[in-house]
Amino acid sequence: MHATRFIHLTGHAVSLVLESNADGPPVWRHFGAKTSNLDDVWPAAAARPLPPAVLDNDPPLTLLPTHGFGWFNQSALVGSRPDNGGDLDWAHDFRQDDMHWDEHALRVTLSDPIAGLGLTLSYALDPDSDVVSTWAEIENRGDTPFRLDWLAAGCVPLTPEMDHVLGFSGRWTLEFQEHREKLGIAAWRRDNRRGRTSHDSFPGVIAGRTLADDDGAVLAAHLGWSGNHTIVIEPLTDGRRQLQIGEWLAPGEVVLQKGECYRTPTAYLSFSTQGLNGLSANFHRFVRQRVLTWPGGRMTPRPVHLNTWEAVYCHHELDDLKSLATAAADVGVERFVLDDGWFHRRDNDRAALGDWWPDARKYPQGLGPLVEHVRHLGMQFGLWVEPEMVNPDSDLYRAHPDWAMHLDGRPLVTGRHQLVLDLANQQVEDYLFEALSALLHAHPIAYLKWDMNRDLASAGHRGRAAYRRQVQACYRLLSRLRASCPTVEIESCASGGGRADYGTLAHMHRVWTSDCNDALTRIGMQRGFMRFFPPEVMGAHIGPAISHTTGRRHEMAFRAAVALFGHLGVEMDVRLLDANERAELVRWITLFKAWRDVAHSGTIYQGTVEPSLAWLQVVAPDLGASLIAVYRLVEDANRYAAPVPVKGLDPARRYRVEILHMPVAPHFTKPSGLLASLADGGVVLSGATLGDFGLPLPPMPPESALVIRCNAVDD
Ligand code: GLA
Repeated sequence: MHATRFIHLTGHAVSLVLESNADGPPVWRHFGAKTSNLDDVWPAAAARPLPPAVLDNDPPLTLLPTHGFGWFNQSALVGSRPDNGGDLDWAHDFRQDDMHWDEHALRVTLSDPIAGLGLTLSYALDPDSDVVSTWAEIENRGDTPFRLDWLAAGCVPLTPEMDHVLGFSGRWTLEFQEHREKLGIAAWRRDNRRGRTSHDSFPGVIAGRTLADDDGAVLAAHLGWSGNHTIVIEPLTDGRRQLQIGEWLAPGEVVLQKGECYRTPTAYLSFSTQGLNGLSANFHRFVRQRVLTWPGGRMTPRPVHLNTWEAVYCHHELDDLKSLATAAADVGVERFVLDDGWFHRRDNDRAALGDWWPDARKYPQGLGPLVEHVRHLGMQFGLWVEPEMVNPDSDLYRAHPDWAMHLDGRPLVTGRHQLVLDLANQQVEDYLFEALSALLHAHPIAYLKWDMNRDLASAGHRGRAAYRRQVQACYRLLSRLRASCPTVEIESCASGGGRADYGTLAHMHRVWTSDCNDALTRIGMQRGFMRFFPPEVMGAHIGPAISHTTGRRHEMAFRAAVALFGHLGVEMDVRLLDANERAELVRWITLFKAWRDVAHSGTIYQGTVEPSLAWLQVVAPDLGASLIAVYRLVEDANRYAAPVPVKGLDPARRYRVEILHMPVAPHFTKPSGLLASLADGGVVLSGATLGDFGLPLPPMPPESALVIRCNAVDD
């Protein structure tokens, strides 16, 4: 009906609609629920009248809004030519050279001949997950250098109804903290300049109105990049907002010479009408199918870890570690990870980083005897490394002080007594590759815990900011190692969860979510983490009764029930457990093994009754089984707790529902009625009943957990 050409990318339940614009980048029309009929849609320019006192050309929000055509909001491209004889070419206006699109992907090439720039934009909508991958690439076609300050990896509109935002903050031992804010007339913005993904500003954001768990429209963005980032949500003059996400660039960090290109990291966008859980389901599917690259092409059942850190810290002694390994195997551990303290003269965190060979005092015959012992017990062997770092007190630094990142004339800033190696220096990359691959080839090491324990302060390479180069070099080193040792899995640790993003996960297989194993604190952190990541990559360990970072004491059941859905591990000296605790730990590990296939392939539903209750449910892909954990955080004023909702089951099927663990509440001796039956052999209920009425909760003391399973009953 109209001459307008709409570009329509379709997903499972999502549509991305743009209006073709012969003069420039396509114009945004819709990113949201799936739409089928565009026949009656009017072109943007004809669909809204021009109000008084505006420019006559009504600049629309395009995929690449820039300042050269009357756009007053943030430009998706900020850059200029400082050496261009006064003509800085800062106000860009791109014309369209070419555009290709099909049902799921769009690629537009643009150029600004006056500014001497070429640009490619790419949006690909994965129909299986409804996640859009987007990036932009710019080329300097002019004769003088082009200094790039900002290029959005993605730019997307939010409808006026999406007036709340869920963002993330954090610090060491308190990662992935969720914050809900009302969007106002000022822009909402998060910048990360710490050089690694950071504890402080996870590169993800979710916008919506109610930000409810299971319903309502929500849109999310994530930058798959382990360095700096910026996320901006800025009001437009028509009630909508634009969301831009991309890499934060330090001044002069990217100066493109003639013919050079800069490609943004990939940003990931998704939308759901099913609230936060709907979004998580999209992201989980996407990470499972498109981001993770497992040795052998498939994830194996996640082996239960024992990580030695909280058991022995740096005090390594061969016989002691062997006995710890034996005790670990006895409780059902499947992978023994030797943490910090094993390498040349590493007695504490003040020295030795960089010297990646075994400490001859602690391991006179090298790592072989311990590796063999562990393997003999039927466990895999894992090893901690922190390759990107060097202690000034190390042989490596003494030999190559110039290998540490520095800016001439500026002070060397240490963090945890360490400096950052300049990975973009080929000699450094080669040294690390040789040192690590020598270890991996010398022993049957199945796993590396790859740590990174400080932010990059004034990251420099020959005077220029080098955050970006550092991330690229780290990815290169990881790729090289994985090519050389393809069976090895790698964990991303950065003082806990300081490096969690899809860029990292393209190279690694697990994230150490936090150094805090306090189960109460973990509930909130894991909730934030699972908004974007599936539970199988979430390192979740059962720590000792008294948390080493908060000092709080928790029952084993609470600690275990909180770790149960993730990639389970044990982070304590299991030899110190008494017989009852040991038996209890064995029971929880056995339960994890029985449910890991479901937890690590299923759909996750999270929910809370603030501030007192939280729950987590996973439903198997075939809807045949579900595991539910309910956590009481604090007491509330109600005498009775409302039933816990049960999500995602097949209404037409019947399930045997059984309480697997019920906490003991003081003064509550005997459950009765339905609760008693659930605790004693279980009850068969239909999926419809469970979905409509939920399940009753017993009185639960603060900081306790209830675990319920539902198994479909075969007819
Ligand atoms: C970091 C990690 C810990 C542990 C220590 C070792 O803090 O997050 O899990 O590996 O380093 O020094």
